[in-house]
Amino acid sequence: MATKLKKSEWDRAAAFWDAEAGEKGVWHQEHDVDPVMLKVLGNVRNKRILEIGCGNGYFSRMLARRGAKVTGMDLSSKLIDFALMREKEKPLGIRYLVRDAAHLRDLKTKSFDIAIGNMCLMDIADAKAAIREASRVLKAGGRFVFSIIHPIFHPHSKHRHIFKKDGKKYFGYTVYRYLSPAAEKFVIWASGVKATAYHRPIEVYIRYLRAAGLLVDTFEEIATNKKVKRAKKGEKGVKWRRSRYRTSAEKKMKEMTLRELPQFLVIGATKVR
Ligand SMILES: C[S@@+](CC[C@H](N)C(=O)[O-])C[C@H]1O[C@@H](n2cnc3c(N)ncnc32)[C@H](O)[C@@H]1O
Repeated sequence: MATKLKKSEWDRAAAFWDAEAGEKGVWHQEHDVDPVMLKVLGNVRNKRILEIGCGNGYFSRMLARRGAKVTGMDLSSKLIDFALMREKEKPLGIRYLVRDAAHLRDLKTKSFDIAIGNMCLMDIADAKAAIREASRVLKAGGRFVFSIIHPIFHPHSKHRHIFKKDGKKYFGYTVYRYLSPAAEKFVIWASGVKATAYHRPIEVYIRYLRAAGLLVDTFEEIATNKKVKRAKKGEKGVKWRRSRYRTSAEKKMKEMTLRELPQFLVIGATKVR
């Protein structure tokens, strides 16, 4: 059995996250990240896949429907409860486990073809150990594929604003900290639940991959496809969904900028030793 688990900060947001993620993932995963993850993963039929930080397991289920033999794990027992409930409703043969991705000692060494982490490594305290463990359970030549919020625009190191240059308005980010790793509290959207995110520059992830014997084979920077909504006059709504951009010109300008600034990163790495 794994070492004694600490309680996950995500437990209190589990019902919210399960409702948001459903069977397709939250908006940016369905529309921005997952199409790239699936392209990078390629044909998964009959592959043995471990998904770390699987949340309510929607991506594990997607892979199982594509013919993979999947094990999904997460530190949040409440999120795994949702995954198990969905497995009971529509069985896909997925094994779900409550584990810390940094301690997977009960999972057999060299037993998976692919390990994935879909938008979770920036939420994992010990990413170095999690990557080492993912590599340990991979067979020689196996792949670790993961997505994260692009570290350059990690929510806590940027400030969004509209600025003027040569008489024209632009939307942009001022990045005021990048190279220093930092743990910071954030609110899981409208759930109101506070959790910790871990900012790490890209070089730190690459160092962890190298230390784990993983050689980067894919590096995809992803901009969002999201349309910016104009707030209606006097509009009430969920605060985090409401846009601050009130004119069509500002909305268009923000959309143009967002197509140039990668919000997400997908990295694939092959186990070479
Ligand atoms: C942003 S959510 C993403 C969940 C899921 N991959 C999805 O796409 O919906 C981050 C996940 O990382 C999980 N997590 C955080 N620390 C973890 C750890 N040490 N081991 C395993 N999972 C962890 C959280 O419980 C949460 O489910």
